[in-house]
Amino acid sequence: MSAAPTKPVTNNLDAFLMPFTANKQFKKNPRLLAKAKGVHYWTPEGRRVIDGTAGLWCVNAGHGREEIKAAIAAQLEEMDYAPSFQMGHPKAFELAARHAAMLPGDLNHAFYCNSGSEAVDSALKIALAYHRATGQGTRTRFIGRERGYHGVGFGGISVGGMVNNRKAFSAATLQGVDHLPHTHLPAKNAFSRGEPENGAELADELERIVALHDASNIAAVIVEPCAGSTGFLPPPKGYLKRLREICTKHGILLIFDEVITGFGRLGTAFAADYFGVIPDLMTVAKGISNATVPMGGVFVRKPVYDGLLSGAENAIDLFHGYTYSAHPLACAAASAVLDIYKTDGLFQRSAELSKYWEDGVHSLKGTSGVIDIRNLGLAAGIDLEARAGAVGARGYDTFVKCFEMGLLVRQGGDTLAMSPPLIIEKTQIDEVIDIVGKAIKQAA
Ligand SMILES: Cc1ncc(COP(=O)(O)O)c(C=O)c1O
Repeated sequence: MSAAPTKPVTNNLDAFLMPFTANKQFKKNPRLLAKAKGVHYWTPEGRRVIDGTAGLWCVNAGHGREEIKAAIAAQLEEMDYAPSFQMGHPKAFELAARHAAMLPGDLNHAFYCNSGSEAVDSALKIALAYHRATGQGTRTRFIGRERGYHGVGFGGISVGGMVNNRKAFSAATLQGVDHLPHTHLPAKNAFSRGEPENGAELADELERIVALHDASNIAAVIVEPCAGSTGFLPPPKGYLKRLREICTKHGILLIFDEVITGFGRLGTAFAADYFGVIPDLMTVAKGISNATVPMGGVFVRKPVYDGLLSGAENAIDLFHGYTYSAHPLACAAASAVLDIYKTDGLFQRSAELSKYWEDGVHSLKGTSGVIDIRNLGLAAGIDLEARAGAVGARGYDTFVKCFEMGLLVRQGGDTLAMSPPLIIEKTQIDEVIDIVGKAIKQAA
């Protein structure tokens, strides 16, 4: 048999269709990262770059953690893979028990997947399956929020509220989805430190939507406790509590998408702890495994789990799952990172550093072109004034300047977002702020 003809392997950057990237622009002037340790990346030429974004809000314990490497290697040696459909492996159950023990209230159960997007779509499906299993099959509608980001699955973009993520796919978004108004109110809340004062009443919009459709048709409300991808928006004081009350009153499940807030970002294990509001379902990813092996999860309150399992003993409770649900390598990594969070006290550290971080980012107030700064925990968003007729250009140029000066930030439009690893030192925070300030000025 003759071998299949092969094409020559090119050494340019053309073959990789990059996600969420201006491919042509990038490939003309690429920014490559080749090595990482602690709070730093290195380019292939050996230039050091501070990781001001913990990768993509995910490397909370810092890069290259030996303990995680060892745990993954040991697991690979012992067993590379085992299925989770009608079978199981001990580390999956151990991990779920550990997560349950650290979660607030009766969030006692965990479903595992491979990403935040999968976690969101899984949570939406669990909500539907729960309602059906408990005789509430008319509850099929979802409510998301403008400016929300819930990943890129069809469920996630449907409940999400970022126009560019929905525009090309509009015809394929889910039916029966409404959106709450976003809570970004710069006219009232600009330069808020922590939770903004104004806007809790926006949660009452949920009552309006309930009145329109009737609660008996609504399955779940999904929000990020702090919107991340839209430029880091902490919730107005009292907003999440109000949302919880309205959901409880109408039997609507409340889903917190904690893909970026989970695992210490706000100085507590979860945003649910920080705000003292317990959702019925919580989606996580990123910091769950410190981004070493892809993993996501849905944490579920006991009544939802019990409802799902209310069928016959031999009935499959949830017709949903992934080949790599609870992948052994991901479980090993996630377990090792829980040890690190605990031993190094990283959630506490994040809480302790948050005031220093807040003062640092707010010191940029007054820099020409900075029109809003927001912060909570170890995260911040900075809005820049758009150039006339060129929305996003200033943000992009500032991001590139930061990279050239040795700092990775996240940029969307004219907004910069930062979320450093929780191991960052105060002197490194100073460096981050210094570079961002210079870059904003240079890209004016
Ligand atoms: C709140 C939120 N949900 C979901 C996702 C999607 O996660 P992933 O990219 O792992 O699919 C993200 C990613 O940034 C996110 O911030």
